[in-house]
Amino acid sequence: MAQKTVLVTGGAGYIGSHVIIELIQDGFDIVVLDNLVNASMESIRRVEKIAGKKIPTYSVDLLDKNAVDDVFKKHKISSVIHLAGLKAVGESCELPLLYYKTNVGGTTNLLEVMEANGVFNIVFSSSATVYGLPQFLPLTEDHPVGGCTNPYGKTKFMIEQILSDLCTSNKKWNVAVLRYFNPVGAHKSGTIGEDPSGVPNNLMPFMGQVAVGRRASLTVYGSDYDTPDGTGVRDYIHVVDLALGHVAAVHKLNEQCGLKVLFLQNGQNKSPTVYNLGTGQGVSVLDMVKAFEKASGKKIPYELAERRLGDIASCYGDPSLAAKELNWTATRGLDEMCEDLWRWQSQNPQGYKGAEGSSQ
Ligand code: UFG
Repeated sequence: MAQKTVLVTGGAGYIGSHVIIELIQDGFDIVVLDNLVNASMESIRRVEKIAGKKIPTYSVDLLDKNAVDDVFKKHKISSVIHLAGLKAVGESCELPLLYYKTNVGGTTNLLEVMEANGVFNIVFSSSATVYGLPQFLPLTEDHPVGGCTNPYGKTKFMIEQILSDLCTSNKKWNVAVLRYFNPVGAHKSGTIGEDPSGVPNNLMPFMGQVAVGRRASLTVYGSDYDTPDGTGVRDYIHVVDLALGHVAAVHKLNEQCGLKVLFLQNGQNKSPTVYNLGTGQGVSVLDMVKAFEKASGKKIPYELAERRLGDIASCYGDPSLAAKELNWTATRGLDEMCEDLWRWQSQNPQGYKGAEGSSQ
């Protein structure tokens, strides 16, 4: 079967590990490339257990172009899902060069290697952060982009621009850009999930660590926003739904690839297709606290505090384009997101580090 092997960069991370499981269940072969800076080999071992097969995994940094090229020489890769990158907003303000080098430099290396090896299908992990301060809600894909306030967000925007220029330069490229809203939850097995290093920046991993007693209480950043209860509103999406969005995007690229052979012989170019991956529902911080308390049976002590620098009041997307063109819709609700997060967190209170025999 052609179009079968997918290289997943950042495959050992939170989103990557869930994407791999869904791809394998859909019949794809997987190759993982990950520098393991913010991820653990233990997640791959657990994915292998769930999938019942070995996954070729390379501990390679995208900045090491020769090593990336070696992986392309060893495997007949048909598509790439590019998730590797640094993602902490605050850290990106302190270490902008590291973010530009890792995210933008890593991506241009990957794209060069792909081109040299004749691989032109790529799904890129972007973020709703590229929309900046929303001018209207829900956010649609044609909302203006680029008004990002931090280097992390700017790298996502720049990579989107690079991919767009590539498509203009060479009609062979097939690009899908996925703009994620807020991924939460974990795999049903409770064996893989989000395992941030250090103090979690994001709401749900922090809440999970409060529930298992690793942190005393949650700080709610801002209670005076123009939202129903004054706390920030976001579009939380179950990570398994998000993963299934990637599977749908790979199918779409394969389809486009075939169509191009038929119709795009005359120098026409195709821009990247861009999709919001969210539920379309805005949920507040206090709604999340309530839902997680219900799912876990634990009280989440919290204090209301000042707004966090750079945060916006509300951010939620319109996912109807993905429904129409990818035939994909998020189906898992808030209760399921919280129950699955709790299963992972309660079974792995110290994340992957607590695992027996873990080398990471
Ligand atoms: N929040 C708290 N306490 C915390 C952490 C978060 O109250 O300890 C609040 C935030 O103020 C916000 C909401 O919970 O209102 C969600 O915050 P997260 O940090 O979980 O997520 P963000 O929406 O700020 O950021 C996420 C991704 C970014 C991405 C951004 C925009 O983490 O990578 O969405 O798409 F850039």
